[in-house]
Amino acid sequence: MTAQTTPPLAGKAALVTGGSRGIGAAIVRRLAADGADVFFTYARAEAEAQKVVAAVEADGGRAVALRADSADPQAVRGAVDATVARFGRLDILVNNAGLIGMRGAAGYDMGDFDRLYAVNVRAPFAATEAAAAHLGDGGRVIMIGSVVADRIGVGGGAIYAATKAAIAGMTRGLARDFGPKGVTVNNVQPGPTETDMNPADSPHNAWLKAASPLGRLGRPDEIASLVAFLAGPQSSYINGASLTADGGYNI
Ligand SMILES: NC(=O)c1ccc[n+]([C@@H]2O[C@H](COP(=O)([O-])OP(=O)(O)OC[C@H]3O[C@@H](n4cnc5c(N)ncnc54)[C@H](OP(=O)(O)O)[C@@H]3O)[C@@H](O)[C@H]2O)c1
Repeated sequence: MTAQTTPPLAGKAALVTGGSRGIGAAIVRRLAADGADVFFTYARAEAEAQKVVAAVEADGGRAVALRADSADPQAVRGAVDATVARFGRLDILVNNAGLIGMRGAAGYDMGDFDRLYAVNVRAPFAATEAAAAHLGDGGRVIMIGSVVADRIGVGGGAIYAATKAAIAGMTRGLARDFGPKGVTVNNVQPGPTETDMNPADSPHNAWLKAASPLGRLGRPDEIASLVAFLAGPQSSYINGASLTADGGYNI
């Protein structure tokens, strides 16, 4: 008879922002497969969100989806409260929801600038600040930044790169603030990963693949693996770090 092993996140509750599609959906599924109860937000994709819930439930896990626009800090804080109300606790926060908005600097719309900052920078801060009241010793905050924080290989991404560099800095600052509570804060920086944000048929993709030593884009589940490691007990001495998963694209 095979011995049953306890999943690494059994008994934990997680909140993932932007879990209806792409990398966020893969993170929801992976954390649930590792035993966590997972609450996640989305802005528009109701049908996709319900498919993620159904997939988790089909695998024997528990997931709940809530429409909450990350551009609204009250909605983000509300998602934290709703997670605690539903699961009675919060152990893991993954700040994944993000917008890209690639376009040249000339004539850049300041409304778009503000929206990118609201979703990519203000929302992770608002969520972490609200979550901190519930996260205890061993708690985890995981940002989803980007390799463009370190190096940008194409034009048109100045504001997106700025938001992701802000996330790397915020990660270090929050790691200082919450470390004394035993809560770690880390930043996963994906390289080009095949999602709706970066679709396989995008005109950039041939170039992106050629620029990678592995000659391919990443899969969302490959980013979720690193998130799962950081969410679990094995990462306990990693704090304030920005860790890259890009197949070597940025070397
Ligand atoms: N794909 C890449 O190559 C790549 C590389 C580096 C970093 N990243 C980062 O990884 C994260 C996920 O990217 P992705 O490629 O998976 O993107 P995606 O395919 O566009 O999916 C984005 C997810 O975030 C949600 N979302 C977007 N705006 C939101 C908002 N205002 N409020 C709440 N949820 C919102 C979307 O939900 P709805 O559909 O319901 O709106 C969706 O579930 C982002 O932070 C991105 O910057 C991606």
